[in-house]
Amino acid sequence: MKKYLVVGNPIEHSLSPKLQNYWLNSNNIEAIYGKLQAYDDDLRELCSNIKNGQLDGINITVPFKKKIIPHLDVLSGNALRTQSVNTVCLSNGNVTGYNTDIDGFELSIKKLDYDVSNKRVVILGAGGVVPSIIYALNKMNVQQIYLSNRTKEKAQILKNLFEGIEVIDWGVLPEFDMIINATSLGLRENDKFGIDFSISGNNKLFFDVIYNPFNTDFSEAGNKSQNILENGLNMFLFQAQKAFSIWHNVEPEINQDVIKFLKSNNQ
Ligand code: ATR
Repeated sequence: MKKYLVVGNPIEHSLSPKLQNYWLNSNNIEAIYGKLQAYDDDLRELCSNIKNGQLDGINITVPFKKKIIPHLDVLSGNALRTQSVNTVCLSNGNVTGYNTDIDGFELSIKKLDYDVSNKRVVILGAGGVVPSIIYALNKMNVQQIYLSNRTKEKAQILKNLFEGIEVIDWGVLPEFDMIINATSLGLRENDKFGIDFSISGNNKLFFDVIYNPFNTDFSEAGNKSQNILENGLNMFLFQAQKAFSIWHNVEPEINQDVIKFLKSNNQ
C-alpha cells in the first residue's frame, strides 16, 4: 500500500490527512495518508525513505518548507523561485520538491473573482507561505506589495528575493486595497494584532491564510459591511488538489461534500 504523510511541527491541527484520505477513498486509490510531528533531524531520513520507496510522498508544512530543500535532489521551477517546498515525491528517480501553495493562493483569488492588478497589497508576516503569496501576486500583476513583519530582518530577506517590495514597520499601515494575514496570529483565541485595520477606509479585501475557526480583530475588520473577508480554506483545498494530482495523476474534486466533510467531526 502506498504511504503519504504531512510533516510539520506542530501538526495536530492539520486537516491534510482528513482531506487526502477522503479523496483517496473517493477515487478508489489504495493508499494511506498520515501525519508526523517532525524535528529538523528527521528530514534527511524522510527523504531517503522516499528515495528507497518506503514512503511515496510528503506534504511539508510549518516550519520545514525551506529546511527540507538541502535534502532534495531536484526542485520544480516554482519551488526553486520561492525557495519553498510543500510537496515531495520521487520523479525519474530523483527526490523532487514542488510548490503548490502558489497555485493554491492564485486559484483562491480567482475563485473570488478579484482582480489583483493595480492593487496595493499589504502582507502581514514573513514566514513559510509568504514567498509563494508574493510570487503569485506578482504573477497576477499586483501594483505594489508592502511587507510587514514583527521581526523586520525576515521581511528584508524576502525583499532581497523579490523585486519591488516595500518593507514597512510592524503596526504601521499604508493606504491599501487588500491585506493578507500570513502570520500565525489568530490561531489562538486571545491573539491580538494591536493594529487599527480601519485606517484605509472601506471596500478592502481581507485575506486570512488561517482557515480554522477564528475571531480576531483581523476577521472583525474584514467582516465589516463594505469589506470582503476570505479565509484560507480555498487556498488549502487548491494546494492539496495540486499535490494530489502530482502524486496520483488524478485531479480530485473540490465540492460541497468535501467541504462539509472537512468541517464535520467525522474522521
Ligand atoms: P516560520 O516563521 O517559522 O516560517 P510561520 O508560522 O510560517 O513560521 O510564520 C509565523 C509568522 O507569524 C511570522 O511572520 C511571525 O513573525 P516573526 O517572524 O516576528 O516571528 C508571525 N508571528 C507569530 N506570532 C506573532 C505575534 N505574536 N505578533 C506578530 N507576529 C507574529
